[in-house]
Amino acid sequence: MKAACRILWLTLIVLFAEISTASVDRKTYIIHMDDAKVLELKSFYKQPQEWYEEILQLSRTTSADIDHEELPPELLYTYENTMTGFSAKLTTEQYQLLTEIDGVLHAAPDEIRSLQTTYSPDFLGLELDQTGLWNENSLQQRASDVIIGFVDTGIWPEHISFSDTGLSPIPSRWKGTCVEGTNFSVTNCNRKLIGAKFFFKGYEAAYGRINDTIESRSARDSRGHGTHTASTAAGNAVSGASLFGMAKGIARGISFTSRIAAYKACWEGNCANSDILAAIDHAVADGVDVLSLSLVGDATPYYKDSAMVASLGATQKGVFVSFSAGNSGPFASTVGNVAPWVMTVAASSLDRGFLGQVKLSNGKIFRGSSIYSSNQKKTKQLPLVYKETAGGKRVTEYCLPESLSPSLVKGKVVLCMRGINDKTEKGLVVKSAGGAGMILLNTPSYGEELVADPHVLPATLLGVSAAKAIKGYLTRDKNLTASISFYGTTYGARSPMVAAFSSRGPSLVDPYIIKPDITAPGINILAAWPPVSSITHLSSDKRRAEFNILSGTSMSCPHVSGIAALIKSVHQNWSPAAIKSAIMTSAYTHDNRGHLISDLSVSNSTQYVTPFEFGSGHVNPDKALDPGLVYDITGEDYLNYLCSINYTNAQVTLLARREYNCPSDEGKATFQAGDLNYPSFAVLFYAVKGGKTSYTYKRTVTNVGKAKISYKILIDEPKGVRVSVVPKVLKFKELGEKQSYKVSFTRSGAKTTDNKSLSSFGSLIWVGGEYSVRSPIAVTWQ
Ligand SMILES: *[C@@H]1O[C@H](CO)[C@@H](O)[C@H](O)[C@H]1NC(C)=O
Ligand SMILES: *[C@@H]1O[C@H](CO)[C@@H](O)[C@H](O)[C@H]1NC(C)=O
Ligand SMILES: *[C@@H]1O[C@H](CO)[C@@H](O)[C@H](O)[C@H]1NC(C)=O
Ligand SMILES: *[C@@H]1O[C@H](CO)[C@@H](O)[C@H](O)[C@H]1NC(C)=O
Ligand SMILES: *[C@@H]1O[C@H](CO)[C@@H](O)[C@H](O)[C@H]1NC(C)=O
Ligand SMILES: *[C@@H]1O[C@H](CO)[C@@H](O)[C@H](O)[C@H]1NC(C)=O
Repeated sequence: MKAACRILWLTLIVLFAEISTASVDRKTYIIHMDDAKVLELKSFYKQPQEWYEEILQLSRTTSADIDHEELPPELLYTYENTMTGFSAKLTTEQYQLLTEIDGVLHAAPDEIRSLQTTYSPDFLGLELDQTGLWNENSLQQRASDVIIGFVDTGIWPEHISFSDTGLSPIPSRWKGTCVEGTNFSVTNCNRKLIGAKFFFKGYEAAYGRINDTIESRSARDSRGHGTHTASTAAGNAVSGASLFGMAKGIARGISFTSRIAAYKACWEGNCANSDILAAIDHAVADGVDVLSLSLVGDATPYYKDSAMVASLGATQKGVFVSFSAGNSGPFASTVGNVAPWVMTVAASSLDRGFLGQVKLSNGKIFRGSSIYSSNQKKTKQLPLVYKETAGGKRVTEYCLPESLSPSLVKGKVVLCMRGINDKTEKGLVVKSAGGAGMILLNTPSYGEELVADPHVLPATLLGVSAAKAIKGYLTRDKNLTASISFYGTTYGARSPMVAAFSSRGPSLVDPYIIKPDITAPGINILAAWPPVSSITHLSSDKRRAEFNILSGTSMSCPHVSGIAALIKSVHQNWSPAAIKSAIMTSAYTHDNRGHLISDLSVSNSTQYVTPFEFGSGHVNPDKALDPGLVYDITGEDYLNYLCSINYTNAQVTLLARREYNCPSDEGKATFQAGDLNYPSFAVLFYAVKGGKTSYTYKRTVTNVGKAKISYKILIDEPKGVRVSVVPKVLKFKELGEKQSYKVSFTRSGAKTTDNKSLSSFGSLIWVGGEYSVRSPIAVTWQ
């Protein structure tokens, strides 16, 4: 639906341009160039930039219309490392002329992507012992060689999480720099924060000049998102970290000796693709090993998705790229950033909670979640108001600004439904109207997901079953009263459970790959925060803190980036695909109660998640270090894959950044979409008459565990499908040895009994010694 709106919008712009003869408005476009052409021309021009300037001159209209003085095209960035091309501000006419120039493969308007807004390492099982990932030796000698780049809102360099105490000199291969800007100097970098750059031309082209008093025009992060994500992946260890005493403990990044390079491309929460591209391009040239991007745009085919194009370039240069899956759950097919060469990360809970409990006058008690903090640990028993009794406007139930009536809510506890506006803003609305407390209620789509917020008044969030019950009691008893008690941090909750907000598969852009790939902690995560930023982003909230608790796939993504850095430090020659395989095949699927991981969006906790919610499962860092076998993929394999899903030569050429011809149809038959050496299996059966009833896919595994070992196959068949593997045993004689197998999926008449979006799920596990190399299977009938 979103995409449809955008197309409509673009159509309107074009119409408008035609009507108004010469449009003076310029927009930013991203232009993909033919790499071969650029190489050819490099002999004439010293820098591609000179040639691009020439091209832009060609795009100037030679119109004799003197009434309309045309604005000249303006080059914003040139891209050389992860994609070939440039971005520029152009009028519609200039854009149209440009697309006809030889060597221009594709030009698309710039788009905006959005951010997806201590204890987690312990939860992940990362302990400072001699065997696991946090082995003292691997820490000091290895992880500090790994550099993680963040494309985000920048960084607060003075934060204690970015102190370089105990760190060795910066790896000599590092080519990055610390770029000066408003309130940011080269001395802000150190052995921890080894690079800081900022990219704003695309943002300013769309929104106008950045207001320096609101946001520093530099890599300085005055919002908090980038500081939070960077410290989650690689912040130095800080003891006694907490938010108002909550979640107290040692805050440390997953790979806390790794180096950080901050690439600021997001301003006021908006990130232009042209700036993101420049950030990725620089990061790869600077020498990062891992790139972490907690931002999501609309799902579109890869050749149109410049972030995916640049990520392929980064992957081909050996950089591991992880992206957040998005916060558009619990609805199906919302997952973003789905290219097979990136890691797509969903979000799930920790066993840690912040108990805020509601007691009604009828004796009923409901357990919820809150990080409200004050000396007052409990409110009085106060009258409850909701909807009609709180204001009676159409949006009163959501507690939107101006919707509450002060005379009705004064001194009372207001029930507010979650949704539409921010949860902490609802609290402010209640407080401003004179309310004494707020009980936030989940709507059905949020299920039992208890996200904690630092409310500005006594308030707590309750799940959907409690919401239903309380609304029921209130209809029957208008005199119902409630009190809210705050108990602080609690541990031991059933976990992990997948967040309701976490975006889900199957991917609409590319259903031949299961997405998301993996889940990691993303609910109530404590990490570093700039001392100038309000902890709720409410301007009236003057509370500041060194650490803040946030939720989102923005928070889960850097956990995986940190784990990738640790793996990279131990296995320096592993490809990004091998690291990804290690993380995916070692993931676990059961919670701390021994049940399959369940879904917070569903109040019935016997509703288990599927690979379309959590991919291969929950990250398991210690096991990911030593996965036994890996499924490797080369850059060429991805191009073959794109051919197999019917991308045209021109589209693959754009992604390959060189003339690329897909194999003929005959050749195609030898490489099907399902043959990409991916560590999971997506199988599609079409309902059409005479549609294929069986697929056979090929996989190759590389032995990275024990030299002499044999693996046996263990299959859990999806309902309605027979799965067979040949051979059933893989015997290895040495490390690095590769072995291939074939797996067949045959539909057995009946569709599926699961009926959940007409899919069924299973798995395929290679078991050898202590290793268990698991791949999920998702079968979809269309
Ligand atoms: C500028 O940086 C200093 C720290 O060096 C900080 O205290 C100050 O708040 C910053 N100003 C802005 C506007 O971010
Ligand atoms: C920048 O923001 C400040 C504070 O909101 C405002 O007073 C000022 O007018 C703004 N400057 C410009 C040039 O918009
Ligand atoms: C509710 O309170 C009103 C006014 O205090 C009182 O008249 C009424 O009887 C009460 N209703 C119930 C069901 O307790
Ligand atoms: C939860 O789901 C299971 C299986 O679908 C069903 O048997 C059970 O009654 C449900 N429980 C609730 C409380 O809805
Ligand atoms: C690609 O096109 C061929 C021929 O039209 C078709 O048989 C095949 O199913 C398509 N493959 C995919 C992955 O869409
Ligand atoms: C299966 O799905 C169809 C639509 O997709 C729905 O109409 C039907 O009620 C579902 N059956 C069951 C048993 O849930």
